[in-house]
This record gives sequence, structure tokens and C-alpha cells, in this order.
Amino acid sequence: MTDTTPQTRSDALAERYVTQFREDGFTLIPNVLTPEEVARYRDGARAAIESQGQLAGLGLRVGRTAVQMTSGAFQDDEVLRDLARHPKLGAIAEQLAGVKLRVWGGEALIKSPGDEQPTMWHDDLTLAPLDGRITLNAWIALVDVPVERGCMTFIPGSHRRPDPYRASLSAAQENPDTYLFDGWPELAWDRRVTVPLRAGDVTFHQWRTGHTAGPNTSAESRVAFITTYTDAESTYRPHPGHEQPGLEPGQLPPDDRYPRIAQFAADR
Ligand code: SIN
Ligand code: NI
Repeated sequence: MTDTTPQTRSDALAERYVTQFREDGFTLIPNVLTPEEVARYRDGARAAIESQGQLAGLGLRVGRTAVQMTSGAFQDDEVLRDLARHPKLGAIAEQLAGVKLRVWGGEALIKSPGDEQPTMWHDDLTLAPLDGRITLNAWIALVDVPVERGCMTFIPGSHRRPDPYRASLSAAQENPDTYLFDGWPELAWDRRVTVPLRAGDVTFHQWRTGHTAGPNTSAESRVAFITTYTDAESTYRPHPGHEQPGLEPGQLPPDDRYPRIAQFAADR
């Protein structure tokens, strides 16, 4: 049975979510945002995309996914900044990860009706310019996202696959649609789990978990926001040729631009 129990602000996260996140590499948590919050952040996401939206590949322009995505919304957009620093979401992320975290990124993305390009199979670790114990993404549904609107599919347990720990970025750039299965052929035979979400539900997945998202064959836009959290002790590890201005290799991201959850958790 689907659990539709709201997670109230004082709730400790139910143990089964933590267990699933650690064993499968992802979990779905229902009703994280209230309908009022969903409406505010959905309007904010639409406005931000309208004013600065761009056709995006994932991360370092690997793959051909056809989504419009903001750039820097977690720092620059008044409304979306609040969502990236949402105390309840941050607290859930820390309970799942089991380590102190900071916000590393957060962007709105819209996949329009008729965008039939699925998001390539990938793991986020390949693209992440970070060294740390964990990085995880919260994928926040700001509209209902049934299968035909392009929800995500995960390979449970794929974050625990054998070494090599990381795929090379060049493998992902050369063969974006197949690099994950080229590198770890056994993953092609593993079970896949597709996870539709209601507006306000959130999936959390780890950076080594294989995942994809489907095309949007529905009549409505898929509006979502992804917050990326990383181990508060993660250090910057640029991909050669893709250095970010203002960050030195090996440094901790500065707290004023990449806030620790502890900095805003007091607002709960
Ligand atoms: C997508 O929303 O299309 C992909 C999201 C992800 O890779 O986390
Ligand atoms: Ni991803």
C-alpha cells in the first residue's frame, strides 16, 4: 500500500526510508511539501525558466536530454533559493545520508509536452566535480509526474556495484547513452524500478545509483526542482577543462555560497 502519511516537521524520518535509500540507493518520500508550497515553487520555477531557461544537457553537457533548466537558481532566484534551503528537505537528506551535508546546487527543470527524448541512463557521480563520502539529489515534483510525464527509473542497488568507483567523464561524453552499461555490463540485467510522484513528493537518490527519466508524452509540462546535497566535507575536484571560477581544486566549497544544512536547519 502506498504510504500517504504526511511527514510533519517534527517527524524523524521513518526507518524504512533510510534503509531503502542505503540498500537500493534511492527512496520516494510522499507529501514532503504542502500544496501551498508546491504552488509557490511551481510558479517560481516557471517564472525562472521563462526569464533564464535554456536547453540543457545534464551537468557537463553529456547526453541529449531535452529539458529546460535554470542556471544558478539555488543562489540567485529569490523563491527557488528558499526551496534549495528548505529546512525539512535538508533534514531528510541528512538523515538519509547519515553525514552532515551542504547544498551544492539546485535548479528548476521543465520537460515540455512532446519532449520525447528520455534522459540518458547515467549516474551523477560521473559528472560531479566533487570528492566526498556522498552526494545526493532530491528530485522534487512540482506537478503530478505519472510515468507518461517522464518520472525517473532507478536500478536498485546499483550504487553498490563493484569498482571502478567512477566512470571516466570521457566515456560518458563519447557514449552518453551506453557508458553505464559498457562499464558495468551486469547492470543491464538488473531489476529497474519506475517511480511516479504526486506533486509535493520527493525522490532522493545517491550519486552512484543508475537512473534515467522517461519522455513526456502527456499533455502537460513536467515541472520539477532538483536540489543537490553533498557531504559537508566534500572537496572540489574539477573535471579538466571544466573548472568553476572561484573554486580551487581540493578546497571545501565556501559556506556562504554552498550553505551547510546546519546553517538553515534552525528555521525548522
Ligand atoms: C531528469 O529529470 O530528467 C533527470 C534527473 C536526474 O538525472 O536526476
Ligand atoms: Ni541524474
